[in-house]
Amino acid sequence: MKYIAVLGHGTVGSGVTELFIKNRTSIERKAGMELDIKYILDIRDFPDHPLADRFTKDFEKIVNDPEVAVVVEVIGGLNPSYSYVKRCLENGKSVVTSNKELVATHGAELLKLAKDNNLNFLFEASVGGGIPIIRPLSQCLSANELFEIAGILNGTTNYILTKMITDGISFETALANAQELGYAERNPSADVDGADSCRKICILASLAFGHHIYPDKVYTEGIRNISLKDVEAAKSFGGVIKLIAAASRLENGKVQIFVAPCILNKVSQLSHVDDVFNAILVKGDAIGDVIFYGRGAGKMPTASAVVADVIDAVKHISARKMLYWSDAIEGSVEDFDKFQTSYYVRCLRNEKTAKLVASVFGSVNYIEGYGDAELSFITPLSTEGELKAKCEQLKAEGIDVYSTIRVIDL
Ligand code: HSE
Repeated sequence: MKYIAVLGHGTVGSGVTELFIKNRTSIERKAGMELDIKYILDIRDFPDHPLADRFTKDFEKIVNDPEVAVVVEVIGGLNPSYSYVKRCLENGKSVVTSNKELVATHGAELLKLAKDNNLNFLFEASVGGGIPIIRPLSQCLSANELFEIAGILNGTTNYILTKMITDGISFETALANAQELGYAERNPSADVDGADSCRKICILASLAFGHHIYPDKVYTEGIRNISLKDVEAAKSFGGVIKLIAAASRLENGKVQIFVAPCILNKVSQLSHVDDVFNAILVKGDAIGDVIFYGRGAGKMPTASAVVADVIDAVKHISARKMLYWSDAIEGSVEDFDKFQTSYYVRCLRNEKTAKLVASVFGSVNYIEGYGDAELSFITPLSTEGELKAKCEQLKAEGIDVYSTIRVIDL
């Protein structure tokens, strides 16, 4: 018998206990041993829960109980999760977490701590909810040199954009629906402003490229400024707006990494990933392109990945899983001003605009349908730095720029 403790009984934590109770027989068969949840840590009481007698408010009881082999951290955030996870690893307990903020911020340190203590620190649920992606990257694709990972990593924003695109629904209503459905973070700013996607692409890039990439090194832009006008403009030339998180290894050895709304052509498989679904495109030298697709958020899909990690952890109590990356390498992230693509630009239209656009951007492709007040167009290839400078030139001539969105090829 191996004992498990679950820290946190929110959306994911309650899913973990529910799934464990529901599928216990097959979970134990796959683990090859009997398992039980000995503790559930939460500051609240749950007297009607089938495991009501396991609830505790005392973390010390858990961390000091030698019978607890695996601790599941599903509290989220950094405090107290970080100190709890550290204490568990220092006290001989393997840890499974769905907490992307924790892994993106302290992953290298916690992986080292786990390694030094011959324990496992597993976090399949931290990226892509129920989609298997951490294990495929660290095991199934380990023979490859991976050179690009790009995907839709946030269910809430994908749900919002899908509703804006297909139903013409407002941003606010779509966000409220996503919150009701349990997709959004406690503070939905982490979803809509891109931090959640940023943490996830940092985890994937750290795993793929072998050294920690911290979120503060990543250019991150959310979807707050995307308007229904932009959605319609993208549609008019066969494009779809998606919040893309991408990381690639450049020829100079640096990693180019960003999170931003992008316009994808409808021929891209990622352009068809809708609602709460996530998809991750991975490019490797032997495999070519491979796509992972599924439910990227929600109680049971996330619990599915957490419980699978628990099974893996109990099966590897004294044989570590090789999941590791080193700490950050100074200067390894490329300056985002060097990123090059073409851009959709929407700006004020007056009698000077067309002439100015031609002199600043050269030959552009205009998008029809903006009436007399606005003009929109697709620029030739340009770097981020160049685009910013060009938009400044327009602004200096009194032409307000309302929107710039990268048009990318995936
Ligand atoms: N808020 C996250 C999302 C939850 O919407 O994708 C899963 O990480």
